[in-house]
Amino acid sequence: MRVLGIETSCDETGVAVYDCEQGLLSHALYSQVKLHADYGGVVPELASRDHIRKLVPLVQKALAEANCVASDIDGIAYTRGPGLVGALLVGSSFARSLSFGWNVPAIGVHHMEGHLLAPMLDDPAPEFPFVALLVSGGHSMMVRVDGIGEYETLGETLDDAAGEAFDKTAKLLGLDYPGGPVLAKMAEQGTPGRFVFPRPMTDRPGLDFSFSGLKTFAANTIKAVESENASEGLTEQDKADIALAFQTAVVETLAIKCRRALQHTGLKRLVIAGGVGANSALRSELKAMTRKLQGQVYYPRLEFCTDNGAMIAFAGAQRLKAGQCGDISEQVQPRWSLDSLPGL
Ligand code: KG4
Ligand code: ZN
Repeated sequence: MRVLGIETSCDETGVAVYDCEQGLLSHALYSQVKLHADYGGVVPELASRDHIRKLVPLVQKALAEANCVASDIDGIAYTRGPGLVGALLVGSSFARSLSFGWNVPAIGVHHMEGHLLAPMLDDPAPEFPFVALLVSGGHSMMVRVDGIGEYETLGETLDDAAGEAFDKTAKLLGLDYPGGPVLAKMAEQGTPGRFVFPRPMTDRPGLDFSFSGLKTFAANTIKAVESENASEGLTEQDKADIALAFQTAVVETLAIKCRRALQHTGLKRLVIAGGVGANSALRSELKAMTRKLQGQVYYPRLEFCTDNGAMIAFAGAQRLKAGQCGDISEQVQPRWSLDSLPGL
């Protein structure tokens, strides 16, 4: 079975062709980052309009790179939610129209299911069961995964998502949107130990997160440094030191929670997915932590940590192959619980 995947939940238009026997045949991505940068965040209406502009050329590109024509496609997978309603509607109307025109089934995929299955696009793929840490711009969740659609949320953020905290702290440091990767780059020049940020919610049991306090801590630290060197404001070194202290706090907090989740479930395999999973400090900390527990950690390749069509094609293909599909009346789900998904 060959599936066309379409991702339009936020500010990336992603299209891919996945074949159940041959694996990923192609993927094409267009990031709207430049479009939203002037506004310091995603403008939903602009995002929707840009998805409309980019979908047709990206589908043509993905089909051409996969050496496919329309009649080679057996099914269509699109992101049904969670995400921005307008952006989701573009992808779902487009996917449903193609499904109708090409006379193939279509299925609406949960965006976070796409993220958590993304490491399965590469070898070695993690086997079920595993614990998944999903850390993106909109979500931070710890999930027990026993199979496709067999998800139990063990913990989630009570306020900001990890990526959101990265982006907001980056903004306080005067970095461009989306600041997560820029802040991470800056942290490489930071002086370890100059500032120490708290590790939120690690002093109490449980697997929930809270990251909004770190952003406030960063704001207060910036104010204190600025008042110390009044004439200069923040130097590049000050920014790097704050970036490192912030990143270390997020990374250590996530590592503590992941260790707890593995111990709590008795599982040995940990999957990291979502945009923040691209953070190299987080990757190396979790690698070291799982090694100590004699476990293994799995990540998607870097380009599939952030939003993409390949993860949607893959997740949709698993469900279509099992005979699942939706009909034309299927509504998008801007808010959608992962635990409510059906198994195969
Ligand atoms: O999964 P994703 O592409 O979109 C959502 O579904 O939200 O995640 C985007 C988030 C942004 O907040 C971005 O700043 C963050 O992932 N991000 C990073 C890194 N790369 C992307 N955060 C920290 N370090 C990175 N290297
Ligand atoms: Zn995402």
